[in-house]
Amino acid sequence: MNRVVLLMVTCVLGAVAVSAQESADAITVSPLFEELKCNRCHAMERFEIEATTSSEKMLGPDLSDVGTKRDPEWLTGYLKREVEVDGSKHKSPWKGDDKQLADLTEWLAKLGD
Ligand code: HEC
Repeated sequence: MNRVVLLMVTCVLGAVAVSAQESADAITVSPLFEELKCNRCHAMERFEIEATTSSEKMLGPDLSDVGTKRDPEWLTGYLKREVEVDGSKHKSPWKGDDKQLADLTEWLAKLGD
C-alpha cells in the first residue's frame, strides 16, 4: 500500500517538474528583436544572440533577464525615451510602431530566470 502511494507521489512530482521545465523553455526569441535591430547593441545570451556592433561605446547590457527588473510600462517609456536611467535616455530612438512596441515590451518583460 505505502509503495503504491509513494509511486503515485513520485509520478505527480515528476509531471510537475516536467511541465515547469517546459514552460520555462517555452519563451522563444521574438523576431522583433532582430527586425528592429536591437541586436546591434544588445546580446541575448539565452537565445545565443550576440551584439553585432564592434563599438564598445554603443554596446548595451545583455537583455537575457531584463524582465526580472523591468515591467512592460517601464520598458515602453524607456524605449520611447520618456523615461531616463541615471539622467540619460536610451541610446537608440524608437523606430517601430505602437503594436511592435507593445509586443516587444510584453515579451521582454517575460524574460526572467
Ligand atoms: C545604438 C545601440 C543600441 C540599440 C540599437 C539599442 N540599444 Fe538598448 N541600450 C543601449 C545602451 C548603451 C544601453 C545602456 C543604457 C544607455 O547607456 O543608454 C541600453 C539599454 C537598454 C535597456 C535598459 C536595460 C536596463 O534594464 O537598464 C533596454 C530594456 C534596452 N536597451 C532595450 C533595447 C531594445 C528593445 C532595442 C531595440 C528596439 C534596443 N535596446 C536597441 C544601446 C542600444
